[in-house]
Formats: sequence, C-alpha cells, structure tokens
Amino acid sequence: MKVTKSKIFAAAVALLFAFSAVSCGKEVPKTNQDSTSFNISGGTVENTEPTTTSADVEEPEMTTETATAFVVGKKLSGVTLSYEEAEVYIGQTLTYPVVYDTIEEVWSSSDEKIATVDSVGNITGKAEGKCIISVVDKNDDTKGAEVKVTVKKGTGIETTNGLTYVGGILIANKSYSLPESYNPGGLTSETYSAFQELVEGAAKDGISIYLSSGFRSYELQSQIYNNYVNAYGQATADTFSARPGYSEHQTGMAIDVNIIDDSFTGTPEAIWLEAHCNEYGFILRYPYGKQDITGYKYEPWHIRYIGKDNAKAFREEADRRDDVNLTLEEYLDIDSHYN
Ligand code: DAL
Ligand code: ZN
Repeated sequence: MKVTKSKIFAAAVALLFAFSAVSCGKEVPKTNQDSTSFNISGGTVENTEPTTTSADVEEPEMTTETATAFVVGKKLSGVTLSYEEAEVYIGQTLTYPVVYDTIEEVWSSSDEKIATVDSVGNITGKAEGKCIISVVDKNDDTKGAEVKVTVKKGTGIETTNGLTYVGGILIANKSYSLPESYNPGGLTSETYSAFQELVEGAAKDGISIYLSSGFRSYELQSQIYNNYVNAYGQATADTFSARPGYSEHQTGMAIDVNIIDDSFTGTPEAIWLEAHCNEYGFILRYPYGKQDITGYKYEPWHIRYIGKDNAKAFREEADRRDDVNLTLEEYLDIDSHYN
C-alpha cells in the first residue's frame, strides 16, 4: 500500500485525538484541575471566574502545524499534570502545572509567539491564539505531557479577596482600592531585588538612585493623607496624595526615589529613571501631562514594579503609540477616579 503524506498526517491526527482522550481521562486532583491560578508579581492569585467543567470547555482548534509537531515530534505519555488546558490573557503569567511524576523537566512551547514557558513551567501569554506547552523528561523525551493553551486579548479584570488585578497586574488607583487589611509587610521581594538591580544599573551610568519611600501601610497612608488635607484642603491633597486604601505604596510594589518634590523634575536622575526604569521591570506611574487620566500630578520620582515582561510590553506599546508618557490606565484601559 502506498503511504501518502496525507495518510501519515491523518494517522497522526487520529493518534493525537486518541492520546488526548487518554490523557484527559487521567485522575487529576480536583482542586488543581478546577482552579486556574495566576502568578503575578510574586503573588499567586486564584482565578475567581466561575469554573467550567470539561464538557463546557471548547476544544481549542489546533493548527496543522501544532498538531503535526505535537504527534510527530514526540509521543508523550507517562506524566500527569495538575491541568492540561489553560486560558491566559496577553501579558499574564499562569502558575506552572504541578507535575505529579519525578522527571527532569524540560519545558517548551509549540509557538513562542503565542505563549512562552519558563524553566519551571510558568506560562506567559504573548499574543492571541492557541499553542501547546510541553514538558518532557530530560532523560527520555518520549515521556511527558502537554497543556493546551489559549491566549486571549482583553483586560482580564480579576478580583480576589478585595484585590483587583488587570491583565495580571495588581491595581491601586482612584477607582480600585486595596482592603485596609492588605499588608505585604514591606516591599515585595521581587520589587526589592529589581530595585537593587536598577540602583546598580544607574550607578554604572554615574547616576545615584536611592529609596526615599517604599511600602506604606494603610495606617501610614492615612496619617500622610490627613496631614495634607489639613494643610491644603481635600481637593488639593487629592491631586498628589492617595486616600488610605488607594495608594500604590500599600501594594509593596511602588517606590519614591530621591527627592520627593518638584525639584527632582528634569534632573539627570529623573531623566535616567524615565529612560531606563522599564529595563528593570518598573514604570513611571504618574507621567507628565496625564493628571486627567491617572488622577495625580506628575511624579517623576514614583516608580511601580510590574515585572520585566510587563514593563517591556508596556514600553513597546508606548513606542507603538508614540507616547513616552503612556500611563498604566491607558495601557490597561481602566479608569482612575473616586466614586
Ligand atoms: N503620591 C501618590 C499618589 C500616593 O500617595 O500614593
Ligand atoms: Zn509615590
């Protein structure tokens, strides 16, 4: 019998679906299978969207290329994951699936333009589409498992325990507050180490950046804000100081550097910060001329950690829009005003 290319492909597809059916029928711990958690800026956030049963989940349409690579490349089996299907927004990172077998994990993506995966299996959405994330045993590349990943556009607002994440980024602005009890106890470790890198990078360029105000608890922000209200009145205070529960400093991911007043504007340090903070995972949070959007006057000293991938994507979007003063509100298409 003549074996044509199309027959090989048809057999491959048949194998693919047979294999998928087998792997979907595996015993997977319920808690992990039903919850999608997002690992964002160092914190893990449970997705509070209603969960779907496997019957509700539409099978991702796989492209010929993906299906072929999936079957012909490796016949993966022998490994169970905590989830085998996932949805992620562009820019969002999903916490790795738990691997219930002892293997030396090697992770890869069938299409890095759609989603990437790091060495431990955290999956990041890059562009709208579908792809397959695989894990194989370094010592036996037929042993492994796949996750069908769908990357979606959109803001992806997630609210959990009173915290609001948009596109995977924890939001604190005039529209989205933090619970009074939210207290990470200081700067998050990711923020702190990224800031150290930034300080070192600046020093190499002969620029001295130092921390002036980092984490501020709800109580500390209350004192600061109330002092300003007493001194200037509420309307003026609201243009430069956040009400308690609305300050990014309470997230542990915001830092005021150097001189916290208008004399910092235009200094070599301010210019360096604006040009380079993205490289270290930070954004300038209250840029010049965007008070109507952020709700605050220009603060060249206030930087916010959003992670290196997010900051890179943010910078690329600013370039695309030809707007060096792009705000997080514009980037994520969210408001910032007190109700
Ligand atoms: N100065 C900023 C807006 C704050 O108080 O958090
Ligand atoms: Zn600040």
